[in-house]
Amino acid sequence: MSVRRLAPVAQQPKSFEFTPANLDWAKQQIAKYPEGRQASAVIPLLWRAQEQAGGWLPQKAIEHVADLLGMPRIRVLEVATFYTMFNLEPVGQFYVQLCGTTPCMLRGANELKKVCREKIGEERHVTADGKFSWIEVECLGACVNAPMAQINYDFYEDLTPESLAKVLDEFAAGRTPKPGPQADRQFSAPAGGPTTLTAPGLYATAPKSAGPALTDRDPKKPGEPANVSEAPVPKPPIGDSSDPRQ
Ligand code: FES
Repeated sequence: MSVRRLAPVAQQPKSFEFTPANLDWAKQQIAKYPEGRQASAVIPLLWRAQEQAGGWLPQKAIEHVADLLGMPRIRVLEVATFYTMFNLEPVGQFYVQLCGTTPCMLRGANELKKVCREKIGEERHVTADGKFSWIEVECLGACVNAPMAQINYDFYEDLTPESLAKVLDEFAAGRTPKPGPQADRQFSAPAGGPTTLTAPGLYATAPKSAGPALTDRDPKKPGEPANVSEAPVPKPPIGDSSDPRQ
């Protein structure tokens, strides 16, 4: 992991405070924890601060969260610099996190990086209109649909240079492209349709005469449809003292 530092002073806002709505929300999060354990809310509060600040954590936001939680500022700074989900520098309105780990790399992530460089610029650089920035990240857990990228909150998967370029163009045009696989397959199912459990007999419907299914009290007869019971268990005659229910 590279060294993670706060953004230069020139990029830092002079102040940060939660909006009234976010402050209410923050107090609710803090109240979830027992007295003396308020620091446990540090990650959700930092996340909300990042969202409010436009996708990154200014120094003043880190300090604001520390003050709210009664924590030493250095402790909150440690959390913010440890977790890579917290951005310490400004990001674009559309923040592209491109996976470059082995499965995605083997499936063409390096070609996708070229698309990002052409359309956005160098890594960590925000475009002049503030719309885009990109970064290479480690595995995002969608290797089965490699190569992939996360853009804001959504995954775009099975990417090719052409489909990634199209996704970025859609965002630039003010539209939201459909997340998920950008190839012709459903989720992570095989491309071109199912390759197993394809025998039609597996999907034969029950005979028309089938009545209501049995309850748990009526054991199904092996090899018969679900409404055919074993012979009922004989009940003892009324008044039989061997009946344990009496
Ligand atoms: S390696 Fe890219 S999502 Fe896992």
